[in-house]
Amino acid sequence: MPAFDIDSYVGRSRAVDLAAIDWAAVPKHPVPPEAIRTMRFMQDIESHTIIYLRSLLATRAIDDPDVATFLACWVYEETFHGLAIQRFLQAAGSPVGERPEPRGQESWSKRIEAAATAMVSKAWPSFCAVHMTWGAINELTTLTGYRRLAALTGHPVLVELTERIALDESRHFFFYYRQAELRLRRRGVARTARFLVDRFWAPVGSGVQPYSELCFLATYLFGGAEGLAAARKVDETIRRLPGFETVQLLESWMDRHVRGADGAPARPHGGHHGNGNH
Ligand SMILES: [Fe+2]
Ligand SMILES: [Fe+2]
Repeated sequence: MPAFDIDSYVGRSRAVDLAAIDWAAVPKHPVPPEAIRTMRFMQDIESHTIIYLRSLLATRAIDDPDVATFLACWVYEETFHGLAIQRFLQAAGSPVGERPEPRGQESWSKRIEAAATAMVSKAWPSFCAVHMTWGAINELTTLTGYRRLAALTGHPVLVELTERIALDESRHFFFYYRQAELRLRRRGVARTARFLVDRFWAPVGSGVQPYSELCFLATYLFGGAEGLAAARKVDETIRRLPGFETVQLLESWMDRHVRGADGAPARPHGGHHGNGNH
């Protein structure tokens, strides 16, 4: 994989162009209620990025200058994804209301801070590697989720909007993945990082949005045959990272938590159950 050019990323970093979207055309095409519910979840998670960043800033995550520069642009871009979806929902006649819970109360935020703090002296390089690996998984899942949403709805304005957002997500993915790949070359780091992902990973949005909403989104986006194939592709990509050859991610999570699109119950599965945040 080629190196990530942070300078060219910074040069290209900008807010998704809201003026380029034909908002007036949104109500001219049907948006299925499942898509609206899914987008509410996505909108909330995108808008939550700054809270996630706050948790990270409580750690030494920005000690690396490339990571610090990246995160500054990243939070800006993600915030605009949240605003763009908010605008779409409004145009579609389903404006985002007030959040039932204030932000930042999630146990998950506290967990990442606690995990990082515990590692300050002992295994800091492993925490950085986990942060980068985690980011790669989340960005690739998000990117895949937007593509699935576009494919499932076929809504022309949503297709245009998600293509623009997905371009940002793919750059985010590339940064995290490349960083993870480099950091995981150290065998001890890879071993600890793998342990932590096995122990704590759950899909993006876990612990921020209710578990029922996560399952709904997972079923809608990844429940059918094409969705499952897309989820598998995410897993396969992450398995190419050093030490992650056998990691179980989205497909395994779907097996344990979600019924198939045909209504069949989730296959019984051994192992642990997510990160306990839901
Ligand atoms: Fe995003
Ligand atoms: Fe992203």
